[in-house]
Amino acid sequence: MEKIKIGIIGAGKITKDGHLKAIQHLNEEVEVIAIADINIAAAQTLAKEYNIPSIYSDYNDLLKNENVDAVLISVPNYLHSPIAIEAMKKGKHVLCEKPLAINSEEANKMVNIQKQTNQILMVAYHNLFRSDIDYIKKSILENKLGKIYYGKCGWIRRAGIPSWGNWFTEKEKSGGGPLIDIGVHMLDLVLYLMDYPKPVSVFGSAFNIFGRDHKGMTRARVVANENGIFNVEDFAVALIRFENGATILIETSWAANIESDSIYLSILGDKAGAGFLNESGPYLYLEEKGTQLNIKPQVLFDYEGARIKMWHHFAECIRNNAKPISSAENGLLANKILDAIYESSKSGREIII
Ligand SMILES: NC(=O)c1ccc[n+]([C@@H]2O[C@H](COP(=O)([O-])OP(=O)(O)OC[C@H]3O[C@@H](n4cnc5c(N)ncnc54)[C@H](O)[C@@H]3O)[C@@H](O)[C@H]2O)c1
Repeated sequence: MEKIKIGIIGAGKITKDGHLKAIQHLNEEVEVIAIADINIAAAQTLAKEYNIPSIYSDYNDLLKNENVDAVLISVPNYLHSPIAIEAMKKGKHVLCEKPLAINSEEANKMVNIQKQTNQILMVAYHNLFRSDIDYIKKSILENKLGKIYYGKCGWIRRAGIPSWGNWFTEKEKSGGGPLIDIGVHMLDLVLYLMDYPKPVSVFGSAFNIFGRDHKGMTRARVVANENGIFNVEDFAVALIRFENGATILIETSWAANIESDSIYLSILGDKAGAGFLNESGPYLYLEEKGTQLNIKPQVLFDYEGARIKMWHHFAECIRNNAKPISSAENGLLANKILDAIYESSKSGREIII
């Protein structure tokens, strides 16, 4: 089997801590042959650590490298769309970090180019590949939950602003705060489990409590620039209604006065409910013979394994010219819902999609 040759664009935190570590487990399938970052020192450091032969400061030069079959786009959100479009036009397949784009207009452009070029465009939603999610999805496919009518999800941090005053906190570059940063993972998970129903309306509220007037600096993991811009939300909540009547509630924060951080998801069906809380594995709640049952399968939480499986899936999609489960269309759907949440928050009204 010939290895798929990868070029990485963006040598920042998630490339270093997530992708490059995962790719090491797939050295029969993929090989990183190039890396680009405007911060050439960051690219050089990773190139040295992982034996990557070609280093670029301009991603356009990486895209000109004819040996590169596919690229990972792992740069600030506002660059996803222009780089992905250029990459697909140059005949490269794309694994794009989440969110697909900063808004649905940009995401739409990406989907259109994907259709024109027929390159693989996959969103790096690694959570889809977790064992607990796999267990819940299989339970749904076996109809253990029955008709699904409600999904609730959240990713709530007490003091987890990723970085203060860099691109994360600047709306033009990020598209938003925790909703588009971590909430998008949870939204996509519930949509996946519900089989991507069609949204019809959204009501949402987004708040900038800690970022406003630079009050909440202590809630930041890293202070990149204490005078930097913070014009995104730090807390958001929304209710999304779908054509089939199902409804999703999502809440998310980078900073909030709560006891502790939590990541949760709950899906209710008329036969059973399923979900997870943090890393404790999946659960099923149901009734049998007039008795309430709590089922706790022994499924390990495998965060690292999920990213490895995601890369394997990307490679398989390229080999078989198959549509990824985290397709560009699914990325666009999330962007459309996020746009509507922000619009609803601004206008104070329900938005019809
Ligand atoms: N899937 C996940 O769990 C997860 C986690 C964190 C971040 N992310 C996403 O990954 C992406 C990167 O996030 P991060 O935390 O690594 O950010 P980061 O700020 O640590 O890294 C971004 C890198 O992009 C580089 N860069 C900026 N402009 C560039 C350009 N024009 N050309 C080449 N490189 C450029 C920067 O120099 C930096 O090294 C974002 O889209 C983010 O939303 C995903």
